Amino acid sequence: MSLFVRKDLGLLLAEAGSGTLRRELGPLALVTLGIGAVIGAGIFVLTGSVASQNAGPALTLSMVLAGFACAFAGLCYAELASMIPVAGSAYTYAYATMGELVAWIIGWDLVLEYSLSSSTVAVGWSAYAVTLLSEMGISFPPRLTGAPGTHVCLPDGTHVTALFNLPAILICLALTWLLVIGIRESARVNTTIVIIKVAVLVLFVAIGVQYINPANLHPFIPPNTGTFGSFGWSGILRGAGVIFFAYIGFDAVSTASQEARNPGRDIPIGILVSLAICTVIYIAVGLVMTGLVSYPKLGVPSPIALAVQATGLKWLAPIINIGAICGISSVILVNMLAQSRIFYSMSRDGLLPPLFAKLHARYRTPHVTTAITGCVVAIASGLFPIGILGQLVSMGTLLAFAIVCTGVLILRKTSPETPRPFRTPGMPWVPVVGTLICLYLMSGLPLPTWIRLFVWLAIGLTIYFGYGRIRAATVRGQPIADAA
Ligand code: ALA
Repeated sequence: MSLFVRKDLGLLLAEAGSGTLRRELGPLALVTLGIGAVIGAGIFVLTGSVASQNAGPALTLSMVLAGFACAFAGLCYAELASMIPVAGSAYTYAYATMGELVAWIIGWDLVLEYSLSSSTVAVGWSAYAVTLLSEMGISFPPRLTGAPGTHVCLPDGTHVTALFNLPAILICLALTWLLVIGIRESARVNTTIVIIKVAVLVLFVAIGVQYINPANLHPFIPPNTGTFGSFGWSGILRGAGVIFFAYIGFDAVSTASQEARNPGRDIPIGILVSLAICTVIYIAVGLVMTGLVSYPKLGVPSPIALAVQATGLKWLAPIINIGAICGISSVILVNMLAQSRIFYSMSRDGLLPPLFAKLHARYRTPHVTTAITGCVVAIASGLFPIGILGQLVSMGTLLAFAIVCTGVLILRKTSPETPRPFRTPGMPWVPVVGTLICLYLMSGLPLPTWIRLFVWLAIGLTIYFGYGRIRAATVRGQPIADAA
């Protein structure tokens, strides 16, 4: 029965106050943390393929749909995060509602969301950084800019076979160092980066809107080509599934609950405001981009840069590149932060070795787990291509969202009296519809991604039965102290 043992809510709330992570983050820092985790490779890279292959100018409708799906999950996250403000996020909510085994599964699954999304966007970062360097006349050895065995195109049109992706590895390691030296330092750097990337996107919209060619927006919903997902309404749906990646990350705010000054009030603000701001920015960028360039031409790795070319304003191109590089860096930063906090919580519960909860004596950050996370993220980004990583990220995130939505329903039944500074509106429909949308989007992902998910979960269950379950039983019910 210990498989389904649940963590007592009273104990969880006591633990939330007992950690020695620094409480440094106010509402603004939490909103920027959310925007930092969200706006990245999705808008700077993926929008082009959705416009050219799935939705055409109706890319914006795909964005609205994906935004809706995230809003349902966001409202559920906000209730649970305000009610149980601990660093473990979805992992801890599952521990309180569905028991230890499901909590372990979700904690293990979140590695796919946070670590793998960091690796995925680091690969996108590398592509933008290498392009910017070459525009500045600095050439990076091409063999060191791609996953092993992939072909890198040279300026003369020939190809070389890549060994590994060095820029991706380097950015992951640099951001790991920043996360180790402090939450305040990390939040400051993140805020600066977020201001730059939002400013760049607002500049793009403000200038681009004056150059829109209305003919590019007709027909707004191109007719379906006869294949499901290729334009028409099914294309908008398929596009929503792909562009969902661009919204991933707002939930990372909930993992900063133990570092927030007033988590009950500010974590819901951080989640919902950052989601709303990102949705508005995405729709505006999508509209301007498809208005500047005819959609069949947008299937390139840097569609926003292509749209800038259509304005003829040469000075704007490097600014957009810098915005993309900044934007993508903060996605790596915040998702690695989230990953280390999940491991920290799992270790405090005994499911991972005590090393993962060790705090640095001076910086008060979980430095060992941050370093382990950073190295794993760096290695994955150096060795795997972006496509395989991206779909697994969406799969892992959708599973987490579905469990969080279900968790809200369960806790309303099992703990109706526990104070909820934020209450999900529209009960029970919001969590029910949220769960169904996530399951629907998961069903659209390809079979190999499902197989990879099951292989990943099988590895996780082996570790749980071989280690976590036994150790968790020995620490259960004991007050938790941070390892020094
Ligand atoms: N939402 C994040 C991005 O688009 C993962 O880069």
